[in-house]
Amino acid sequence: MEILKNFSLKKLNTFGLSVDGKYFAHVASMDDLLETKDFIAENNCRFMVLGGGSNVLFLNDYDGLIISNGLKGVEILKEDEEHIIVKAMGGENWDGFVSWCVKHNLAGLENLSLIPGSVGASPIQNIGAYGVEMKDHFVELEAFHWETGKIQTWVYNDCKFGYRDSIFKNELKGKVMILSVTFRLDKKPVFKTEYGAILEEIQRMGIKKLSIGAIRDAVIYIRKSKLPDPEVIGNAGSFFKNPVISEGQFQSLKKAYPKIVSHQIQDGNHKLAAGWLIDQAGWKGNRLGNAGVHKKQALVLVNHGNATGKEIILLATKIEESVKEMFGVDLEREVNIIT
Ligand code: FAD
Ligand code: EPU
Repeated sequence: MEILKNFSLKKLNTFGLSVDGKYFAHVASMDDLLETKDFIAENNCRFMVLGGGSNVLFLNDYDGLIISNGLKGVEILKEDEEHIIVKAMGGENWDGFVSWCVKHNLAGLENLSLIPGSVGASPIQNIGAYGVEMKDHFVELEAFHWETGKIQTWVYNDCKFGYRDSIFKNELKGKVMILSVTFRLDKKPVFKTEYGAILEEIQRMGIKKLSIGAIRDAVIYIRKSKLPDPEVIGNAGSFFKNPVISEGQFQSLKKAYPKIVSHQIQDGNHKLAAGWLIDQAGWKGNRLGNAGVHKKQALVLVNHGNATGKEIILLATKIEESVKEMFGVDLEREVNIIT
């Protein structure tokens, strides 16, 4: 495996930022991975794994080793009457894997259609959309621990999955490379259509019989109509998480802003639509230099052309300040900031 130098990451981050990695390795096998570990030790350099680059914001050139995950393969491990257990390698494209599941009539992940990125990154923030989270079908994952050089298995209870969260985004951040993820998929589908006008879309498309394929098509259509395509305008999806607040704080906000968009979650807490807060604070469609707020979805920050990571962070900080000032709510960043 060749380790490249001063490698452009422009096409490898969906913000489309013009940054370079000092070193770059495309890891396509276990041998490559071990070579990479040796390189890190010999050069005493920092390193990070990169999947599809759809949830990262580089503030500078990266002065270490970028490890691109090229581990491929999908394998059926076992099945019974109701379920099928499938292992996908971390370098597989997430939506390619979802498409494979739908084609093989394996249900569960169809609501997560068209989310960019890799299978290996899917547990990091427990990706979610349209009423489903990755954790709902997660069995276990295998990861390479950089310090010990061992491959370990993490089962569901080890992973501390939460809303856009897991142990891999916290205690284990940067400590492991996720090699594969194993999912439990349903032979008899349980359709999840209550969220985000999926049913409406299916009716509009003239589809008479509900199927996982129809749900996939509807989700793809809705996503394309709302979210900017990174091929056209650089972005990393939602820049912030939807904030969770207490019942008390919610009631006082509701009094001041009767139209506030939210839904109740466990423990009586409320999840607010951050897009609505940012929109109300007047940011939708605005720009600051080359960084901007998307015109259709205020939760998505965009690169209008030659933005730098620092320009995007400046915009994010100003948005955080105005939402805090107007609503008293702290926004938490979803995107991984790489300094
Ligand atoms: P990267 O951006 O490459 O990496 C993200 C982080 O994970 C980095 O810190 C990286 O070091 C680490 N990492 C990556 N792979 C590994 C690995 N194998 N082992 C260890 N660490 C690793 N997310 C949602 O949850 N729901 C959505 O609906 C959604 N919609 C989006 C829409 C758009 C248009 C875009 C651009 C993004 C969207 N996202 C969404 C965010 C993004 O798609 C997900 O977070 C995705 O899982 C990131 O995958 P990636 O391979 O691109 O990760
Ligand atoms: N809204 C506005 N103005 C805006 C944007 C949104 O008023 O500019 C309001 C609308 O009322 C809308 C509500 O906010 O009904 C929610 O918006 P939307 O349905 O677009 O979803 P979201 O909460 O903004 C979340 C996820 C997305 C995921 C969708 C669908 C987070 C941080 N974001 O967005 O995930 O695709 O729901 O499930 O939870 C991502 O994580 O990168 C991502 C795109």
